[in-house]
Amino acid sequence: MRPMEADAVERERWLSAGAHITTMLLSGTPEEDVLEHIVSVAREIADADAACLVLPGLKGELVMEIVRGWGSEELLGLSMPHTGLSWTALRTGKGRLVPSLKTARNLNLDAMRKYGPALYAPMGTADKPVGVLVLLRKDGEESFISKDLERASTFADQAALALVLTEARQAQGLTKLVEERERIARDLHDLAIQQLFATGMQLETVRRRAARGLDKAGLIAILDEALDNVDNSVREIRSIVHSLRDPDAATGLVERLRRESALARTGLGFAPSLVISLDDTSLGAIDDDEEALDALVSQPLADDILAVVREGLANAARHARASSVSVRVTVLSGNGAYAGVPANVTVEVEDDGIGLGAPSGRKSGTWNVAARARQHGGTSSLESSPSGRGTLLTWAAPLKLGGGSTLV
Ligand SMILES: Nc1ncnc2c1ncn2[C@@H]1O[C@H](COP(=O)(O)OP(=O)(O)OP(=O)(O)O)[C@@H](O)[C@H]1O
Ligand SMILES: [Mg+2]
Repeated sequence: MRPMEADAVERERWLSAGAHITTMLLSGTPEEDVLEHIVSVAREIADADAACLVLPGLKGELVMEIVRGWGSEELLGLSMPHTGLSWTALRTGKGRLVPSLKTARNLNLDAMRKYGPALYAPMGTADKPVGVLVLLRKDGEESFISKDLERASTFADQAALALVLTEARQAQGLTKLVEERERIARDLHDLAIQQLFATGMQLETVRRRAARGLDKAGLIAILDEALDNVDNSVREIRSIVHSLRDPDAATGLVERLRRESALARTGLGFAPSLVISLDDTSLGAIDDDEEALDALVSQPLADDILAVVREGLANAARHARASSVSVRVTVLSGNGAYAGVPANVTVEVEDDGIGLGAPSGRKSGTWNVAARARQHGGTSSLESSPSGRGTLLTWAAPLKLGGGSTLV
């Protein structure tokens, strides 16, 4: 490979490694695994002998938390001196190259002396620091150059942004969880328990009257009412349990799709366009339409639509190198002007990227998308975009209107 080509390949590797971190976090990979991946991949691409992630510890110190490569055992758990390069990089948000740690003056950590060239890339910004990525080569190896620092820093920043976003999302999730619990306690108290209490009173009346041998027809009427109440309580409790199992149940499809495409922004580097339409109306900010959509699309179908959009966006971020991506969710109600047309939903994720190359790598993404279509008696395809550029993922499923109960 000529030097210029090798350079372009390396740049590309850094960029796609950054995008992959975002995808990992979005798809729910545990943070610990993501951090380890960041270190391993950075070491490999930068051709370093060792790579470490320095992160804030519990007592406000900076610790070598994750270490990979040559001599890593001695580095693990080291606390970084306050006057050192890691702290400076974290405080200023600026990276630093060192030609040789072996000969550096003022180096306080003996364990670092055995290394030669070093690169310190801060993760995050000076006002929102996450940690420092440190890349090391053995003594006598080629020095890192400013281009290495620039690329490693961009990668570290991208990884930091993804981590910060995931944390924010988790914190939001936690608040939602507490609110959900309170709502469930309220619902149980106001609906189910009150009703069971009333039923208990009715049965008490029946017992008293039966003991006195009174009025058979009257007793049966009260018992009928009590049985109705038991039915109602069962229904109430079922719907409470249902919302417990699916914490997203209260959030409408439109809102969930908006969140999904907003989250894809980090992986793609730009915001995808999102168009949701019901019959001929494209859904704007009108809540009524959103409710109409939720009435048509069952919860399990909405979950699958979300999963398909997520996979399409993740694929665009990982494989397409696109400059734009559009997500279209089109619902046909089978009513009004569409009477006679089978009610269905179509999901399309289209990009203007490099298109499908020769089949490669894992295929579980497309396989899952197809399986989700089959479950609803629908179809899916991944093909070249009809525009002549990029890729189009299409997924369609019929709406089961007025179908069986989906409770519990
Ligand atoms: N938008 C796209 N642009 C270019 N190539 C794509 C696109 N989507 C998919 N591909 C190609 O199709 C292959 C199969 O995609 P699929 O989603 O099944 O697997 P994957 O994304 O590689 O892995 P995963 O199982 O994690 O989803 C990809 O490896 C990639 O080569
Ligand atoms: Mg995929």
